[in-house]
Amino acid sequence: MTRILQVSDLHIMPEGQLFHGQIDTAQALREMLSGLAGLLPAIGPVERIVLSGDLTETGCVDAYAMLQAIMAECPLPWRVIPGNHDSREGVRALAADALSMPATGPINWREDVGDVTLLGVDTLVEGAAHGTLAAESLDWLSSTLRGLQGRQVLLFMHHPPCTTGIAAMDDIGLLNHSELAEIVVAHAGPLQIACGHVHRMMIGQFAGRQVVIAPGTSHAVILDMRARMEFGFIPGHRGAVLHSFGDHCQSALISSADFADPFPFS
Ligand SMILES: [Fe+2]
Repeated sequence: MTRILQVSDLHIMPEGQLFHGQIDTAQALREMLSGLAGLLPAIGPVERIVLSGDLTETGCVDAYAMLQAIMAECPLPWRVIPGNHDSREGVRALAADALSMPATGPINWREDVGDVTLLGVDTLVEGAAHGTLAAESLDWLSSTLRGLQGRQVLLFMHHPPCTTGIAAMDDIGLLNHSELAEIVVAHAGPLQIACGHVHRMMIGQFAGRQVVIAPGTSHAVILDMRARMEFGFIPGHRGAVLHSFGDHCQSALISSADFADPFPFS
């Protein structure tokens, strides 16, 4: 069994600042990491944590410094992909020591963990909210998958390639999803896609594969499926996703409510 924890949309601010003046995203991440560490005896062993983008809100040096300080307490090895709120060089510097981190260009990486190959692909268009896979990233993904026909692949990308029904998020989704679909359809092996961006746990389908969208660590996009939706955030609704691969494959939501002390069944 290979288990991977996905933690997404941290939106860390520079020290002393609150997200939209309201939410302490740094404290929320500390609580999430502490809670997950407390659960490890019950859910482990877990091989990696992957932070699936929007690591910071501002993309500035001070926010990454704050994140680096918090992640020093992370109980597991961790990997990163950028989200639309990140700066590519900020993300690269944050995880420069990771063997999988490319020194230049899009932050696309591969790491084999047990029977699973983790792939991270970079959908960031700096300065924009939507995502795009650059030609270089599409080529990298296509050539990498060609050598992975027999392995379970867990593909991390910040922007979901499928729609969510939340209009404001779908408007800023992955623009060139059809190009990704061609690559995914051409791949014969087992592959699951893991995304963030939406700040809600959702399960979707894309090119015949399962897409799991993880919640954020501090706040959620409001649940409004109307075409002319109001856009806003709610605090809480926080969690992570545990992806497990073995005889049985599953993705389980871990809510911050799971960190509470249980009362006995009697
Ligand atoms: Fe986000």
